[in-house]
Amino acid sequence: MNQLKKTAAAVLKGNWQQGFTIPCQGLYPFQWNWDSGFIALGWAHLEPEYAQQEIRSLLKGQWSNGFLPHIVFHNPADSYYPGPEVHAANLSPHSPEVPTSGITQPPVLGFILEYILNRLDKDQAFLDFIDEVYDAVYANHEYFYTHRDPQQEGLVYICHNWEAGTDNTPVWDFIWDTFEVPKYDLPRKDTSLIDASHRPTNAEYCYYIHLIELFKEWNYNDTTIAAQSPFLIQDPLFNSMLIASNNSLIRLGALLGKAQQVAQLEAWNIKAKQRFNEKLFDPELGGYVYYDLRGERRLSHLSSSSFTPLFAEIPGQEMASSLMNHLDGGRFSGEQFERLLCASFDPTSDLFNSQKYWRGPIWINLNWLIYEGLLNYGRTDLAQRLKTDTLALLDKYGFYEYFECDREKNKSLSQGYGGNNFSWSAALCLDLLKSNQ
Ligand code: SER
Repeated sequence: MNQLKKTAAAVLKGNWQQGFTIPCQGLYPFQWNWDSGFIALGWAHLEPEYAQQEIRSLLKGQWSNGFLPHIVFHNPADSYYPGPEVHAANLSPHSPEVPTSGITQPPVLGFILEYILNRLDKDQAFLDFIDEVYDAVYANHEYFYTHRDPQQEGLVYICHNWEAGTDNTPVWDFIWDTFEVPKYDLPRKDTSLIDASHRPTNAEYCYYIHLIELFKEWNYNDTTIAAQSPFLIQDPLFNSMLIASNNSLIRLGALLGKAQQVAQLEAWNIKAKQRFNEKLFDPELGGYVYYDLRGERRLSHLSSSSFTPLFAEIPGQEMASSLMNHLDGGRFSGEQFERLLCASFDPTSDLFNSQKYWRGPIWINLNWLIYEGLLNYGRTDLAQRLKTDTLALLDKYGFYEYFECDREKNKSLSQGYGGNNFSWSAALCLDLLKSNQ
């Protein structure tokens, strides 16, 4: 394990750029929003000062309305498409000086701050740092509840698949079916950097770019996007991250004497958790699913996102048990546990693809979230299995971006999938090695 820790540390150090960490050389050469949160947690185990710098750098990209973009382009780099000129976030009157994208990502900062404080045994210097950034993180939550919840029901929407983080989950296939897009010229770089069969297709990228083109036409105006975007989704992963971050900001706010913000966060959270259980739990599937606000329908497919409400302590015991059954001898593990936990999409579905990005492979950040979620519900046995599976993959292959879930196939593989020396795989490995279970 010592060797694993050393290699993980070397990956983070190799990706450090004087103030922030890129997710992966070449493939992702800028600062990404939710990556940075997980990466900061990794730095807490090595160089807590870097964790602070990581978060400060991300917040330099925050817009004047509280919005936090999914990429901050601190530095030039030509190995990534689409870059800052494609996103053109400066069309929004709220965008900051530093170039950013105009879409967001799952809001992890709130709970990351609390995890780091706990991992550092409540270190006063880190609590002072939380005091410094608390209002900025709170402003991001206020942005979501003000601008991303048109029915004022406690659930926020995402308007782009890249906002989900789970870029090409098969769930989006059902959204792409509802509108047509032009055939764009796509100067993609990713498909020549790594095996193209592990990445989304060009047909999918045309949808991704088209949505950005629409948002630019609308100057990234939230009201227009809510009224007109053909992609408007209530995502169980995204909303779980927001609710978990609310949970943490409530506890941290109490420590810091932020009574007014705490009261508001509590009010948001009560409403959010109730609506989440009513609207996003599919009783037939026994799990949480995505909701298409444009088409007013549930998108009834299980994915690793379905389990993340455990992390945010949203389900009661009954719903939690039905989630765990999928992991414990159910479709995600297989009856004979022939699958490692946890595939990113339902392995029994026709749409599952074990090598293609978010259509099936195992991702370390989702495993970490589900692991912590299982601990929240006292399932240490299942949490331990998930942790063993995760560390075995990292130990065998190194810090790839994603991994094969089929136990048999893994016997003959010599590599993981996607990019290598991937920062959050390393960062969360460090955290898993440290946690007590
Ligand atoms: N994950 C996206 C990509 O692959 C961007 O957020 O480019």
